[in-house]
Amino acid sequence: MTDAIKHVSSALARQTLQDASLTRPVAGVLPIRLLPWLQVVKIGGRIMDRGASAILPLVEEIRKLLPEHRLLILTGAGVRARHLYGVGLDLGLPVGSLSPLAASEAGQNGHILASMLAPEGVSYIEHPTVASQLAIHLAAARAVVGSAFPPYHHHEFPGSRIPTHRADTGAFLVADALGAAGLTIVEDVDGIFDADPNGADSAKAKLVKDVSFAELAKVSGTLPVDRAMLDVMATARNIDRVQVVNGLIPGRLTAALRGDHVGTIVRTGARGA
Ligand SMILES: Nc1ncnc2c1ncn2[C@@H]1O[C@H](COP(=O)(O)OP(=O)(O)OP(=O)(O)O)[C@@H](O)[C@H]1O
Ligand SMILES: [Mg+2]
Repeated sequence: MTDAIKHVSSALARQTLQDASLTRPVAGVLPIRLLPWLQVVKIGGRIMDRGASAILPLVEEIRKLLPEHRLLILTGAGVRARHLYGVGLDLGLPVGSLSPLAASEAGQNGHILASMLAPEGVSYIEHPTVASQLAIHLAAARAVVGSAFPPYHHHEFPGSRIPTHRADTGAFLVADALGAAGLTIVEDVDGIFDADPNGADSAKAKLVKDVSFAELAKVSGTLPVDRAMLDVMATARNIDRVQVVNGLIPGRLTAALRGDHVGTIVRTGARGA
């Protein structure tokens, strides 16, 4: 018996995992899409910050979308996380301590949204539930809500004082890993502009309708999405495009989920289905 355990056969037992030429015959197989019918929707914290005037019409729109789509709705952190970063940075907290605090703010926004959608059977689920019981929750309800932040905590990458892997990156990573049908990012502006539409050059700012992750990464100015998301887009497997839309204009999210071009399409490195 002991012998059999010691000699358990495995295709990767006798080789280093660092040599791709040795692991390729086993590891080169394309991963399956776990939830190919799932639409992931990331709601910006700034939408939630606006309160009832922004949240109620969006809730109404999501309610109407439920018969058509099964949704993983992920919320961003917004203004409370910015305050928290300010206090935490003042105290010298490391980035891995700030990250879960900001993630809990994103979770609070998720709880608010889930409460508003509760009559539709929608509830908030924590990261471990997203990881291991998403399918059963989506069999019981047409949508669930979670925090868009990735659960890196103290495993956060060094090099920045503010977490680089925030809500957009988290939403993209989970959508791609699940092999979802799509990811839509809901902002408080029409999409990605060539300059901040609420900034000093707002009069000149033009909407960028279609752009690749690589072109966007070259832009030196501000963006309404995490730059780290552009990094992970380079190696995406399943999600070949993300649409950034305005959640303050009723109908935009619905149109995007139906495949219409109503905001900014960002193309990733994935080849598409
Ligand atoms: N190039 C740009 N194009 C569009 N908006 C921009 C650009 N640069 C800056 N912005 C600003 O980014 C704002 C959105 O900020 P941000 O992306 O941080 O919010 P959010 O996505 O709601 O937050 P979170 O990521 O916490 O969920 C817009 O209101 C806009 O003023
Ligand atoms: Mg944003």
